[in-house]
Amino acid sequence: MKVIEPQVFHKIYEDVIQGEHVKVYQKYLREATGIYSDTTEVDLDTLLYTVYSYEAGSPEKTGDLYWGLTILEPVTVNEECNMTRGHFHLDQNCAEFYFGVSGTGLLLLMDKNGETWAEKITKGSLHHIDGQLAHRLINIGEEPLGVGACWPTTAGHDYGAIEEKPFRYRVFKRNKKIVFEESE
Ligand SMILES: [Fe+2]
Repeated sequence: MKVIEPQVFHKIYEDVIQGEHVKVYQKYLREATGIYSDTTEVDLDTLLYTVYSYEAGSPEKTGDLYWGLTILEPVTVNEECNMTRGHFHLDQNCAEFYFGVSGTGLLLLMDKNGETWAEKITKGSLHHIDGQLAHRLINIGEEPLGVGACWPTTAGHDYGAIEEKPFRYRVFKRNKKIVFEESE
């Protein structure tokens, strides 16, 4: 019998995903100014987050899966906590798992009526995200927030719906305290 050496590693609490078919991209503030309430006098070259994704799967094949890791830097933008852009899935039958790897954060969730709530993320926490919910990660801690993910390759990303109808809450760090602000 042929036995193949592992081609990809994710030593979950020690390292990022490494190996074949692993893509990496970095998001800087200059590409994400629209999601923050105030970006005046903030360095647009600030690194917000890095995404690693193991994309051996096919986006055309129902039932196929991707594996990912997002690391959000512990930075704020005029006191607003660092966050991902957030998205709905284009195919709302597709759920997703997130899991906490390092740091402290919030998984912000929103249903199609705009109802918004959060789950706290800590090392080892596991989060099942229903396919109909928009989801965004927010770093509320003092160290990088690492969150792993597994999702169907056919899920797709709908960012436009979030731009039209944003999450109802913003999260700030003021005098070391986390403060929620309702947008409407
Ligand atoms: Fe997703």
